[in-house]
Amino acid sequence: MRAALRRVATETRLHPAQFVLPVFVVSGEGVRTPINSMPGHFQLSVDQIALLAKEAESVGIGGMLFFGIPDQKDEEGSPAWDPRGPVPRAIEAVASAAPEIVRWADVCLCEYTSHGHCGPLRGHVVDNDAALPSLSKAAIVYAEAGADVIAPSDMMDGRVAAIRAALDQRNHHQTVICSYAVKYASGYYGPFREAAGSAPAFGDRRSHQMDPPNGREAIREAQLDVAEGADMVMVKPAGPYLDVVAAVRAKVEVPVVAYQVSGEFAMIEAAAAQGWIDRDQVMVESLTGIARAGAGIILTYFALDAARRIEVAQ
Ligand code: PBG
Ligand code: ZN
Repeated sequence: MRAALRRVATETRLHPAQFVLPVFVVSGEGVRTPINSMPGHFQLSVDQIALLAKEAESVGIGGMLFFGIPDQKDEEGSPAWDPRGPVPRAIEAVASAAPEIVRWADVCLCEYTSHGHCGPLRGHVVDNDAALPSLSKAAIVYAEAGADVIAPSDMMDGRVAAIRAALDQRNHHQTVICSYAVKYASGYYGPFREAAGSAPAFGDRRSHQMDPPNGREAIREAQLDVAEGADMVMVKPAGPYLDVVAAVRAKVEVPVVAYQVSGEFAMIEAAAAQGWIDRDQVMVESLTGIARAGAGIILTYFALDAARRIEVAQ
């Protein structure tokens, strides 16, 4: 088929506006610490985040998602709701440097707890209900800094309702909640845990993340979060769970977001570095598959490069 005809007949079109770039924020100035397992990605101080946001804005990327790496951690994860912490400061900096970038704040305690679990511990188990007030406090601090989207990623039961109530009480009715409703206990998060310094000190996250063989359970999780007030739902990882993306898309009315996680990114980069695959072709193909499955918004570490590549292609 000739290229012009193919272009007209295409069923799935990627657009930079649907990409959200995850970034890792640290304190200091001029800091760009490379993340070994994620080529081209760095732990960045707030001034560097602002520069990156301008670049992201200039290629038309829709948003940036912030993960904070605090200087101090404690049992409760209290640095998560420090108004001068890395995430609120990054949100403020991006709001003034690149207003077209939608600001997404990941809300979870595992980057902030000394034990690396997603909530306070009771013995060796995460205390679900004790985590809820902490998550709400963090969400309010991020909304007050100017976050457009609050994205709770811990998979604790009841957190969407708790965060919605806390935001509404402070008059943050406009702040959107994107729930990581369908988050699998996955091996694909490996590089992220290096990047964010959030590997659990013992055990794993199987008590609150989903079991990879289960697909129908994903629908229930997504519907529950929508009922609690989620404005968007996320499926994570993306590539190994395209059937789940499609099923959730068919069953809920809110936008479906998919997160192409650190391990998916790292595998493509690693194979490309060996010369075993064509990086750019596989990058676009992997994102096209995620969009074809039904994700309207894609969180991806390829956001910048993919946006540039699509501009060239059109
Ligand atoms: C938890 C969180 C994780 C990721 C995003 N949010 C890690 C986890 O659940 O262990 C993983 C993202 C990625 O691998 O790119 N705050
Ligand atoms: Zn967590």
